[in-house]
Amino acid sequence: MAVLPVLEYPDPRLRKVAEPVTDFDDADLQTKIDDMLDTMYDEQGVGLAATQVDYHYRIVVMDFSEERNEPIVFVNPEFDVLDDAPNECQEGCLSVPGFYEHIYRAAKVKVKALDRHGKPFELDTDELMAVCVQHEIDHLDGKLMVDYLSPLKRNRIKTKLQKAQKKRA
Ligand code: NI
Repeated sequence: MAVLPVLEYPDPRLRKVAEPVTDFDDADLQTKIDDMLDTMYDEQGVGLAATQVDYHYRIVVMDFSEERNEPIVFVNPEFDVLDDAPNECQEGCLSVPGFYEHIYRAAKVKVKALDRHGKPFELDTDELMAVCVQHEIDHLDGKLMVDYLSPLKRNRIKTKLQKAQKKRA
């Protein structure tokens, strides 16, 4: 169990496309999933994609519970849109800290995924969870929420984050 460093925009490693998981008996896979959960809880996020901790497999973790004790692990997740009306929720990202934006996401989606042991499951989601599903699956494809913003806004965020990163280095 370990808290892993979260990559921040504009780190080029956030642009890698993640590979599907095929070997569920791999001890390293199970450790990485535990580390992703530790990292998400430590950062007080509701969701985290493997890409954000520089692990390039198709894994997403989430927890929407008040007590932070109901983790959901999605391996090789995909979604179908159930309602393409715009979702009203604002979103943030641990890789774009301090910025919250309202961008277009479908109101309701059905997620199809495998659990951490390779067993398939489906989940109908709406509101914040539907936003999170679409946001985290984007990460696995190397896509970030800033990609939906205007170039002007995206550059402003990039400059601010780079300044903060330089200060920390
Ligand atoms: Ni994110």
